[in-house]
Amino acid sequence: MTNHIDDTSYITPFIDPALVSEVLIDPLTLHNRIHELGAQLSVDYAGARDLLLVSVLKGSVLFLTDLMRCLTIPHAIDFMAVTSYGVNARKSTGTVRIDMDLRQNIEGRDVLVVEDIVDSGLTLDYICRLLNARHPASLKVCALLSKPSRRKIDIPIDYIGFNIPDKFVFGYGLDWDELYRNLPFIGVVADGAVH
Ligand code: IMP
Ligand code: MG
Repeated sequence: MTNHIDDTSYITPFIDPALVSEVLIDPLTLHNRIHELGAQLSVDYAGARDLLLVSVLKGSVLFLTDLMRCLTIPHAIDFMAVTSYGVNARKSTGTVRIDMDLRQNIEGRDVLVVEDIVDSGLTLDYICRLLNARHPASLKVCALLSKPSRRKIDIPIDYIGFNIPDKFVFGYGLDWDELYRNLPFIGVVADGAVH
């Protein structure tokens, strides 16, 4: 998974390569894995009458829009926004705040939470408890990234794109102090880099 940067041609349009110590997941690897997840979900939810993808803003937006294009089954989408990290803070505070709730009722529906990354698991645990209290027919989680070594709560994740090491990553939806969500790859911030 780790590609030390030899070809920087797809990096330079977006960011100074000196700020990126490592490309952890390149665009093609992301693309291929998301197609695999989409195919798997399309099989697992075949026949589901009322599938709702719940995207947790903002980090999962790129993943959601690519993933849903790989689904061959009917589904609706909705969004919620939570805050577990302040700007500049890189560790979960443990307190999760809902900034924007779902617009749709989820009772009796098959709900799939689409997350960018599960780190301590505190955010996801909070979201799942909140959604389960609304009595969906089923509740599963699809996370693009997981850092298993950082887990504080053993929360089940039904679909994982990539397990990654304990490094602060950004790009493809994930921010570095709210910037660089548009990078087409997942990168690691270079030591001491200031953007
Ligand atoms: P958790 O509650 O510790 O699992 O943190 C989950 C949230 O923290 C994610 O949804 C991200 O918004 C953020 N986060 C955790 N690790 C990273 C990272 O390496 N880069 C960017 N955001 C991260
Ligand atoms: Mg997030």
